[in-house]
Amino acid sequence: MIHAIDIKNLVFSYSAQSEVVLRIAEFQLQVGEKVFLAGPSGSGKTTFLELIAGIIHPTSGSLQVLSQDFSSANGDSKDLVRKNDLSFIFQNFNLIPYLNVEENIRLPFWLGFQDGRNEQQVTDDLQKILKDLGINSLQKKKVTELSFGQSQRVAAARAFLKRPKLLLADEPTSALDQDHRDAFLKVLFDLAQNFETSMVFVSHDKGLQNRFDRVIEIGSWK
Ligand SMILES: Nc1ncnc2c1ncn2[C@@H]1O[C@H](COP(=O)(O)OP(=O)(O)O)[C@@H](O)[C@H]1O
Ligand SMILES: [Mg+2]
Repeated sequence: MIHAIDIKNLVFSYSAQSEVVLRIAEFQLQVGEKVFLAGPSGSGKTTFLELIAGIIHPTSGSLQVLSQDFSSANGDSKDLVRKNDLSFIFQNFNLIPYLNVEENIRLPFWLGFQDGRNEQQVTDDLQKILKDLGINSLQKKKVTELSFGQSQRVAAARAFLKRPKLLLADEPTSALDQDHRDAFLKVLFDLAQNFETSMVFVSHDKGLQNRFDRVIEIGSWK
């Protein structure tokens, strides 16, 4: 595999009547590359991530994610990639309030995710990630009792316990002050380094962009 993402002549609009939201002649994300995707509110950043996540599909053009065709809705191999190789971190983290910290982190495994690891190996990996993130004492805590910074770490732990090949992050730092933003980015980068995870990080906060391998202005695609 050469590219984590490979796009050619992609056009996307939400319906035949509505205007084109994204028009991307060409885009490639190298394996292991970390890209910062910048653009103002409403410019199509979340739409782009939903295309890469296989939640929506291009109106025309070709989209390959981790060497699988994501151009249309059907495809078993596409669904396998979605389940096994992609992780997401959302703006509000999407932690489930009636599950504790450990249960939230294990959630992808309950939803059918499986790789070569057995139960014990997953538990060992979970303990290591919790320790690396400094949240091992919070394992049985209710997520509704966490600070914002702790919630972020739980979301990062959940995203990386799968050892994803590609992480999609949608403005995960937008509600944070500068110190917390820097700390969270360091956590993400350390984990991505460990697991050789490629990353698309979406934000309108340009203060972070210098730390990425590449910066793309969504407006430059149109
Ligand atoms: N489900 C949808 N149906 C129709 N239009 C949508 C939908 N979601 C987003 N849009 C429109 O697509 C454009 C891009 O939105 P979005 O991708 O959310 O931008 P961003 O994440 O950069 O703020 C906006 O004009 C928005 O109104
Ligand atoms: Mg958005």
